[in-house]
Amino acid sequence: MKEQKEPFLNASDFGKDFTWGVSTAAYQIEGGHDADGKGRSIWDKFTDTPKMIHNGENANVSCDFYHKYKEDILLMKSMNIDNYRFSLSWTRISPYGIGTINAAGLDFYNKVIDFCLENEITPWVTLYHWDLPQILENKGGWTNRQIVTWFSEFTKVCANAFGDRVKHWMVLNEPMVFTGAGYFLGVHAPGKKGLKNFLPAAHHAVLCQSEGGRILRKLVPGAQIGTTFSCSQITPYRQNKRDKKTAIMVDALLNRLFIEPALGLGYPTIEAPILKKLQPYIQPTDMEDCKFDFDFIGIQNYTREKVKYSLLVPYIRAKIVKASKRNVETTLMDWEVYPPSIYNMIKKFGEYPQIKKIIITENGAAFKDTIEGEIITDTDRLNFLQSYLSEVLRAKQEGLNIHGYFVWTFTDNFEWAEGYHPRFGLVHIDFKTLKRTIKESGKWFSKFLSYRK
Ligand code: GAL
Repeated sequence: MKEQKEPFLNASDFGKDFTWGVSTAAYQIEGGHDADGKGRSIWDKFTDTPKMIHNGENANVSCDFYHKYKEDILLMKSMNIDNYRFSLSWTRISPYGIGTINAAGLDFYNKVIDFCLENEITPWVTLYHWDLPQILENKGGWTNRQIVTWFSEFTKVCANAFGDRVKHWMVLNEPMVFTGAGYFLGVHAPGKKGLKNFLPAAHHAVLCQSEGGRILRKLVPGAQIGTTFSCSQITPYRQNKRDKKTAIMVDALLNRLFIEPALGLGYPTIEAPILKKLQPYIQPTDMEDCKFDFDFIGIQNYTREKVKYSLLVPYIRAKIVKASKRNVETTLMDWEVYPPSIYNMIKKFGEYPQIKKIIITENGAAFKDTIEGEIITDTDRLNFLQSYLSEVLRAKQEGLNIHGYFVWTFTDNFEWAEGYHPRFGLVHIDFKTLKRTIKESGKWFSKFLSYRK
């Protein structure tokens, strides 16, 4: 563990209109996996599948936010956090994915939203953070074009139920990750593999992204509508021609594939020719339908990737060189700590004139915490947040289009295939007793935010 650096920033440096918050996702925190009529999602099934999750863990209970939401929201308030991004579990609201609505599910989110508002915390709602109803996956899930109808129905239900109070919406969370990890690599739910699954899933996600935006626009007056993207600076591993070309291709796949159709730019097929294989899934009016004028774009940055040309990798001929093989500082996810990546991503997305506003909807890090009684020391996380924030400030001071920042994440939680091992929280959770304890990073963030008042 390194020495803690001197605190050098506070929230007032970013101006009074800058939005500050924390982000979470339903499956990662809620627990209550079968409570009060909730249906099964692809993550409920995937975590039951042997060998898919570190230590065979699942999020059946996780942080039990389902029962402890008041405690967590009050804790947020005590930490000066006034924007809370969370997602809606589709099967809690609509257990069969479509049709029947579960009143208890709506009731839960109504209570969460109302309690946020009572405590002067603005709810920022993500419609889809990866927990597709398993019953829809049985029909092909994201690979089935009918997902556009299913997702539209779900969006309408949510907009009608919560739109009177929720005015900040995000349609999808990181489509590249849920289609890439879930339908190409098979390492996330539903565990499907290959281009034949990835390509239709990706195109249908692009269609849902804009359709979700249109439905929200129609049903929620005064809504700020966004969607979120994972993004990482992509650097060639070696300064040779082939690695440089590979980096441009990987950048198109990881950073441009989902945003550009929404902006009316189509798919980046010139830099990533593999995307020409999307053609069979594209119907005549699709590229028109993919467009939507979002009020903000959420970008989520953790690291940068170095990539090299590799003949051995089919189709894309590219390979990510792991951070652990590069002799750099890493987090428990084996992600390089590289603060300029967040600045470069703000700059990159800022270069699209069509984007109205950029918000960092996730940034944070998994490191080992040191527990001594009530004191939880997490200097690495604190340094990480400070160094990334100073890059966000640099972007802001240069006049780039950046308007907010949400930490990933509030409490430690279930980190997908990695289970409970990598902890990202500002607040520690003892997963045996479910006791919450604010870490040193959380205390720092709360103090950092207090300067605005
Ligand atoms: C993002 C994702 C979150 C969280 C985070 C840390 O990709 O949206 O759910 O898991 O990464 O890995």
